[in-house]
Order: sequence, then C-alpha cells, then structure tokens
Amino acid sequence: MVPAVRSFVVRPNGPLRGSLPIYGAKNSVLKCMAACLLAPGRHSIGNVPAITDVTIMSDLLASLGLVSRHHGRGADGVLDVDVPEELRPIVPYELMERIRASIVVLGPLLARTGRARISLPGGDDFGGRPIDMHLRALEQMGVEFRIEHGNVEGSCRRLVGGRIVFEFPSHTATDNLVMAAVLARGTTVIENAAREPEVADLAGMLRSMGARIDGAGTSRIEIEGVDELHPAQHSCIPDRVEAATFLAAVGLAGGEVLLERARPEHMDMLLEKLSQMGVTWVPHAGGILATSTGKLSSVDVSTLPFPGVATDYEPCLVTMLSVACGVAIVSENVFAGRFRYVDELRRMGACITTEGHHAVIRGVPRLSGAPVKAPDIRAGAALVLAGLVAEGETEVSGAEHVDRGYEDFAGRLRSLGADVQRSGEAPDQPW
Ligand code: EPU
Repeated sequence: MVPAVRSFVVRPNGPLRGSLPIYGAKNSVLKCMAACLLAPGRHSIGNVPAITDVTIMSDLLASLGLVSRHHGRGADGVLDVDVPEELRPIVPYELMERIRASIVVLGPLLARTGRARISLPGGDDFGGRPIDMHLRALEQMGVEFRIEHGNVEGSCRRLVGGRIVFEFPSHTATDNLVMAAVLARGTTVIENAAREPEVADLAGMLRSMGARIDGAGTSRIEIEGVDELHPAQHSCIPDRVEAATFLAAVGLAGGEVLLERARPEHMDMLLEKLSQMGVTWVPHAGGILATSTGKLSSVDVSTLPFPGVATDYEPCLVTMLSVACGVAIVSENVFAGRFRYVDELRRMGACITTEGHHAVIRGVPRLSGAPVKAPDIRAGAALVLAGLVAEGETEVSGAEHVDRGYEDFAGRLRSLGADVQRSGEAPDQPW
C-alpha cells in the first residue's frame, strides 16, 4: 500500500485573533538533551515541545544507553533523561542522518568517554553543511580523528583546554565546543563564538550541572574545565523562530494576537523589520502583542548570525514580501542553498527571481492556492502561512518536515481562527 501523503490543507479565513503560548526552543532543547551525556544520573528538562526532532534525538541518545521519557505537552512538556555510568559511544548512520543536531553529541561523548564514532550528520538540505570547524576545534583540544566510509571516529585522552578561534560563528560548533570544554583540563577560550540565545541557554544548563562558563551569549566564551558534573534540572527558553512564524501569520492575515512568553530581546532585528513592513507590536503580559491590517510594505533583508536577522526567519519573510507593496531584495548569507522553496511560492503566483544567494521579490496583490511541497521545517511552515492569504485551497505536502520543529502547528493556527487542516493521517500529528 502506498503510504498517505501527509499535508496541510489551508484556506483563507480572515484576520487572526487570540493568544498562544510559545513553546520551548527546538535548537536549545536538542543541545540540552546532548548535554545530559556529560553527567550520569537523572536530568529533567522543562519546556520541551512534542516535536519529531525531540523523538529522533531521544532515539539517538537511547542508542548510547540513555533512557528518556517525555510527559506533558506544549509549554508543560518535560523530558526526564536517565544517564548510565557507562556509555556506548557509537551512533549508527540511520540516526545521525535524520537531524543536523545529532552532531552535538560528538563533543560531550569525547569529553566523557574519550571515544566517539558517528557518521557525517544529515538534516535539512540547504546545500553543503560541513563539520570541518567542529573537527578542527576538537583536534586543537587533543582529539585524533579518522574519517572513513562516511564515519568519523575520534579518540583522545582527557581533552585539553586552549584558545580556539572560529572562522565563522557556527551555532552547533559553538555548542559542541562548550560541551567538550566543560570537562577538559584547564581553560578554553572560544573567540568568534555564536551569540545565539540558545547557546546562552545551553550554558545555563551546564552551569546548573556545575560547569564554569563565562561570556556565553557573547562572541568570547571562557570555560574552566572541572573534573565532574552532576545532573541538571533546567527549563529551556521559548522558541524565537516559532514566535517569528506566528508573527508572520498575523502580519499576513491581519488581526491581533498575543504570543505569550515570546521574548522581544531575542528577536530585535526581526521586530525592527516587521515594524518597517507595517506590523505593530508591543511587549505585553510577558510576551508580544502583535497587530496587523494585513497590508504590508516591502523592506530589504540580509540574514546574519545573531543578533542579525536569523536565516530561519527567511522563508516567512520572503512569503510576507511576496504580497507586500513594492520590491525587496533578500540576501541569504548563512545557507547559500536555502531558496529551494521559492519555486513553490512561484507556483502560488509569487513574483520572485533568485540569483545565487539573493532573491528579488516583487509584491503581488494576492497569491492563488496550489498544491506545493515543503522542502524543510521553516519553508514548510512559511508555505502554510502563504495559504492563509491565497485564493482558494493550498495543499502543502511534506507536513512531516514541519512536525520536526512545530508542535501541533495546524491546531494552534486554528485556535487563532485560521482554516488549516491536516490530511493523510488520523490524529493532527503523529505523536
Ligand atoms: N559551517 C561550516 N563548517 C562547519 C560548520 C558550519 O562551513 O563546521 C557553515 C555552514 O555550512 C553554514 C554556516 O557555517 O554556511 C552556519 O552554520 P551553523 O553551523 O551556524 O549552522 P548549524 O549549527 O548547522 C544551526 C541551527 C539551524 C540554524 C543555524 C543558523 C541547530 C540544530 N540548527 O545550524 O536551525 O539555521 O544554526 O542559526 O541548531 C532550523 O532550526 O530549522 C535550523 C536549520
């Protein structure tokens, strides 16, 4: 039997109204899960959303000997992780290739066991996603790597701290290095570190385990290694990309929505761009209250590492610019191959041309519903949003990509008045 295609079916249904809690940040939760490897015992991580990437990471940790149990949903989601004294430091290809975040087990495994065998990681296909910076930095700390048949095998005695200068502020390379350095001998200084709020959140969890870390969230992080760590109780920060996605939904459809728990200080540049486009927002009741008439103006956007406009916001911004008044240029400076979804927006009537890592978007008065395909998490969510303002029906297939990063995306949009249904499976989401 051919498996059913999982899709979102979307029809325009006027402005959005209501309030919505923002759940825990995927890109923080997955790293905090890997951080558990650093100390035996029971860890407890709060604000863990019910998304597929968490399941995949739990499976990956299970292959190393850990046992995770997820209970509660949404903002009440908690993950308990039991970590044994002995780890089996080998991750099979089938698990590594499913998510990019799998690479962050490398640093903690080497720190804890002096050995790790992983295969080259997979994840969203934005063009080449090398791990050379991870490997070079770990080599500087004393790891010897052998790369054969798609596997990376690393071994070391106790890691040794030192000064590591990143060529680019890679998010997961910074996560990996911080987790390697917490148990290293001596002090590690990371220069040109990623400044994303999720890096600071991971450091917060590691500090609660007994790690000594200064400067996380800035471009210079200093870590003084300790001999051992203890289990953590930590609650993850809200997801700024999820918040940005719902802000884009209000921007497009119009209306007034309170995003509970959303943190404006994690998204300064995005909020500035949204204001220029005509979306108004104010901090309100511990979140963000956003209002829009649905009439948007074009602005140019360049994606950059934090605190710039994040690359993960780009598909939502391009969707908004597709129906904005005027012409905009969007330059993608982090993942050169990220514009694959633009063909799908064109099928819906958007007027977009791409040249290398630039896109020129001429706003059109309206989009028209069409069958389209989600190529990755963020682009999939953006195509669903396009359907909110496209005449007729839009069917976005590849819903499983969206499920990797958003818990109950359709149900939460519906709670604001949107007409978004799931097809191809019985429950709203396969959880
Ligand atoms: N790069 C290298 N060599 C490396 C590492 C990175 O050349 O060793 C390059 C990449 O190819 C890319 C740039 O550096 O051109 C930035 O990549 P970075 O390492 O910062 O990205 P990442 O760590 O692989 C994380 C998030 C992404 C998010 C980016 C940028 C996780 C699991 N993923 O990826 O999130 O887009 O940082 O902020 O944390 C998503 O959530 O949908 C997502 C793709």
